[in-house]
Amino acid sequence: MAQPWRGILREYAEFMPFDSDVRIISLGEGGTPLIEAPALSSKVGASVFLKVEGQNPSGSFKDRGMTSAITRVVQEGDTTVVCASTGNTSASAAAYAAAAGITCVVLIPQGKIAAGKMAQAIVHGARLVQVDGNFDECLTMVRRLSEDYPVSLVNSVNPYRIQGQKSAAFEICDQLGEAPDIHVLPVGNAGNITAYWAGFTEYAKAGRATRTPAMWGVQAEGASPLVTGVPVDSPETVATAIRIGKPASWDQAIAARDESGGWIRAVSDREILEAQALIAAEVGVFVEPASAASVAGLIAAAAHDDVPAGATITCTVTGNGLKDTATAVSHLNVEPIVIPVDIDAAVEALELS
Ligand code: F0G
Repeated sequence: MAQPWRGILREYAEFMPFDSDVRIISLGEGGTPLIEAPALSSKVGASVFLKVEGQNPSGSFKDRGMTSAITRVVQEGDTTVVCASTGNTSASAAAYAAAAGITCVVLIPQGKIAAGKMAQAIVHGARLVQVDGNFDECLTMVRRLSEDYPVSLVNSVNPYRIQGQKSAAFEICDQLGEAPDIHVLPVGNAGNITAYWAGFTEYAKAGRATRTPAMWGVQAEGASPLVTGVPVDSPETVATAIRIGKPASWDQAIAARDESGGWIRAVSDREILEAQALIAAEVGVFVEPASAASVAGLIAAAAHDDVPAGATITCTVTGNGLKDTATAVSHLNVEPIVIPVDIDAAVEALELS
């Protein structure tokens, strides 16, 4: 029988910062599908694949970084982790802290994280505080807390997070048999674009791929400091996961863009929601709004004739749509139809005759 997937730290052990005798905290993260998306391929005139990161244990790509960050915390003998979050980091940190038997403390922007993500932090037993401020302010606060108190920071400014998250780039190369021409992903605090670029370059250096892709980053218009070059004091977008005005890994994101020959562009909330609906209805994958930003950016690029014909393009869809069902259906105008227990009424309502 084939060996089951053992999580990214074991599967890619030679590229990871842990010796073989270290106690690994894993929930089986990684090994996510890379699926063909014919509906998108025909729309943009290229060969498009989606890396479905919503299939990770807590429903987002954060688990790749969290297995690594929490493994390191436990190795150091620390017992409390802290993070700021727009929802997915806190869900993941809470889950991995639970698996490790340590405490997780979370600061989130009040009223600005999706209900599913909030529920995750709660059920996994995190100590949760809502801050009357935005993500950037929460991040400043947790940085201070980790300097002055015995709590370990597990946001993506923690280098162990980046080490774990780079595994997604390895998997894409392994699944395609080569690096793609272009990789597209949403950008918020910019840890993930940093990690992917590190992963693609490291894999090419190790001879596991012969090239590196152009990195295309996508932000939401109301939270697009890397596009305008100016930090945003009050970021706003329906894609709450990337509602970030001062990305911590700003310089690394710009370096990934420039070294790879890529770009970072912005898309509107409308484009994000349209892309989310399209991915769900025409590809068959339910992703959260921030995740759909990558596809929205690709579609916008195609509309501007910026997509090279026939290119192999991979898009990371970062998180599971079930985390935020309210936003997904809010603009679709679907009226529930209620009928009596009656076959004829069902036939009529469903227009089957
Ligand atoms: N997509 C989703 C679903 C996210 O949750 C995030 C970030 C991103 C994209 C952007 O990734 O920050 O590495 O550029 N979420 C963080 C959080 C900020 O707290 O969950 P990034």
